[in-house]
Amino acid sequence: MTVTHKFPEGFWWGSAASAMQTEGAGFEGGRGKTTWDHWYETEPNRFFDGVGPETTSDFYHRYKEDIKNMKKIGHNSFRMSISWARLIPGGEGEVNAEAVTFYNNVIDELIAQGIEPFVNLFHFDMPLEMQEKGGWENREVIDAYVTYAKHCFALFGDRVTTWFTFNEPIVPVEGGYLYDFHYPNIVDAKKAFQVAYNTMIAHARVVEVYHKNYDGKIGIVLNLTPSYPRSQNPADLKASHICDLFFNRSFLDPAVKGEYPEDLIELLKEHGHLPTTQEGDRQLLKDNTVDLLGVNYYQPRRVKAKEQLPNPYSPFMPDWFFDNYEMPGRRMNPYRGWEIYEKGVYDIMINLRDNYGNIESFISENGMGVQNEERFLKDGRIEDDYRIDFIKGHLKWLHQAIQEGCNTKGYHLWTFMDNWSWMNAYKNRYGFYAVNIDTQERTAKKSASWFEEVSKNNGF
Ligand code: BG6
Repeated sequence: MTVTHKFPEGFWWGSAASAMQTEGAGFEGGRGKTTWDHWYETEPNRFFDGVGPETTSDFYHRYKEDIKNMKKIGHNSFRMSISWARLIPGGEGEVNAEAVTFYNNVIDELIAQGIEPFVNLFHFDMPLEMQEKGGWENREVIDAYVTYAKHCFALFGDRVTTWFTFNEPIVPVEGGYLYDFHYPNIVDAKKAFQVAYNTMIAHARVVEVYHKNYDGKIGIVLNLTPSYPRSQNPADLKASHICDLFFNRSFLDPAVKGEYPEDLIELLKEHGHLPTTQEGDRQLLKDNTVDLLGVNYYQPRRVKAKEQLPNPYSPFMPDWFFDNYEMPGRRMNPYRGWEIYEKGVYDIMINLRDNYGNIESFISENGMGVQNEERFLKDGRIEDDYRIDFIKGHLKWLHQAIQEGCNTKGYHLWTFMDNWSWMNAYKNRYGFYAVNIDTQERTAKKSASWFEEVSKNNGF
């Protein structure tokens, strides 16, 4: 391979996954129930093909084989998450010894294979009992989460030195409180803003604990989506500004700058959606900013001034929001339906360089979901050239950003092997490895071999 795009020494090549989506063994090893187990028990038909969270890629039993495969295709880092409900069934109380053994084994195996574990504390999997107490609406749940984080640091912090508090904290807000795709599936904008705010308080409290007691790095993983306006007219520009404030800056600013944008506070005040705060919150956020940022990027948001009332995505979304804009000619992933716009990664990185102190960051998720991917099977292997093109297109722009001084340290694909994805279950496949869910057989796709070369050459 002739290398035209060389990445800096020590660049992180790898992938990301989450506990609930890969471990399986929901009723084994003493794991407590999460909201997903409960939701599936009560409304199985909401899940694609009726497939629930117990049907995953069985990482709980097959982690050794999987980590060996990671090594084989050139991973030097891997982001996993710990299941709060596995470590502390019920969310509070005794630590589950079997879970400690499992996570110790996984972490030790990764390290033995030369793969740095990046560990995330919360990837959408709230212990059911904690949700019954109100989830992130309730500050007591924040206390329980901080205790859980302390246990994680004490148990694994001798070997794990790169931590994340949350993955895409806006998604449970959107899904659970606005758009009806996560439990508790209530639609209430005021609650949504409260939950978003409390999540950031939980985040800052955990950052505080970590910084006081440990020397490693702690960050947050945000799905940053550039908000491109339909036109330069003031109404469209205002729409894209509102979109950016809500979907990016409501997490990015407090995480990196330690404060909320004034414009956002004003908007919420004006519309009666200001969350309830407590004394000391402002200082807590100010004092506990992150060391690094994971950036998940799949597609941009294109927006225009509000035209349709009510909002087609959720009738409870405020009328002063914005509308999504289906830009003519935008390039779509024909197998999943999301826009493909590779330059988005560059725009995000330049924004971080210019407006967020060039904070250390990396692409913590990027990937191409494909439905019915078996159709690309040839001689026993999925020939996913479309995924290679997708990754390459994004890496080119990332490379460009690095050339221009962005502090970008790595690229992780979503995801290592096909896995269960919430309500979409196994609808969209993203992995470097295909997984047959009946036999649990793993087969490397063409992109896996390509990635092995990229990692070996530190470029392509
Ligand atoms: C990411 C999430 O945003 O999207 C993952 O962090 C999720 O948890 C992934 O699996 C893909 O989503 P989908 O709906 O295409 O399967």
